[in-house]
Amino acid sequence: MKIAPILRVTGLVLLAYFLLETTLDTGDKYAIVEYPVIWLILAVILVFAIAIELSVGALENVLYKTLKPDAKVRYDLAAQQREENRFAWLKKTYNKLLDKKPLEKEAEIVLDHDYDGIRELDNNLPPWWLYGFYISIIFAVVYMANYHIFGGTSQQEEYEMEIAAAREAVEEYKRTAPDLIDENTVELLTGQEDIDAGKTIFSANCAACHKMDGAGGIGPNLVDDYWILGGGIKNVFHTIAEGGRAGKGMVSWKTDLKPNEMAQVASYVLSLHGTEPVDPKEPEGELWMDPDAKIDEADVDVVDPNELEMELDNTGREY
Ligand code: HEC
Repeated sequence: MKIAPILRVTGLVLLAYFLLETTLDTGDKYAIVEYPVIWLILAVILVFAIAIELSVGALENVLYKTLKPDAKVRYDLAAQQREENRFAWLKKTYNKLLDKKPLEKEAEIVLDHDYDGIRELDNNLPPWWLYGFYISIIFAVVYMANYHIFGGTSQQEEYEMEIAAAREAVEEYKRTAPDLIDENTVELLTGQEDIDAGKTIFSANCAACHKMDGAGGIGPNLVDDYWILGGGIKNVFHTIAEGGRAGKGMVSWKTDLKPNEMAQVASYVLSLHGTEPVDPKEPEGELWMDPDAKIDEADVDVVDPNELEMELDNTGREY
């Protein structure tokens, strides 16, 4: 079996496959998966190609046998010639790139240096090496101009840019991945969807102890200004995630609820603030004031130069 026909047949089938794959628009799926009929088409092409190769081969064989003896010799000679010339160009280029003196012509380039019988040949520099050298010089000039004269981005700058981009991606991910919320990053949610989701969670898990309207039962009142464990979204989130004081009945919910669910239910709890539940439980804990709340109006009275009396508008507390 000759190698050329096999190469031709596989080449043809691969080409057919490639054309089908690139011309059929199947999105990111392979055409061959999308249209199984392609297998059939390729099989037909394969069978035809083999058939053609076989018949051409047989035909050549028959023609050869009908040739007269001297024609046969000429035919063989031509075939041999073709075989020899096949890679002639490649061989020529290879020899040119080496530029080696043939052994029998070495006498032309031998130098008169003689070291105890060891002599020296004055060979040309091998062109492959020389060209490589020239190319590296050109490369160096271009490189230097690009990076050191025209201010192309250096490796250091590229690194810094990539790090900055990666940081941004992390920030973006944190912002959009709600399950990464913790008590330090949690924000009060005010969207109706979140409040409704919080309400659902509350009625399923919390209402038994806090009452549906937050009036309090086993657990404390959640609608007043007084908090045992601290008010505000961060403290409430913390209480829900970690539970209350040991033995009081408020367990940690972080294994049952996802972080964003805890944020939703905490926001729902805070949305109850100021509502008027039926039969509210007495306030427990301390009056909570948000340390971050902005002061709307400050009333500063100088009563005595050594004493300062100040009234903060949003709390009513006096100092
Ligand atoms: C088994 C009863 C029970 C359940 C269920 C329960 N809690 Fe509590 N909760 C309590 C008790 C008791 C306390 C008081 C804890 C303490 O004093 O340390 C409390 C405290 C709290 C506090 C702090 C109140 C304050 O004054 O600081 C919040 C907020 C709270 N619960 C929210 C929830 C949420 C939200 C759920 C549902 C996910 C829930 N609780 C489920 C019993 C319960």
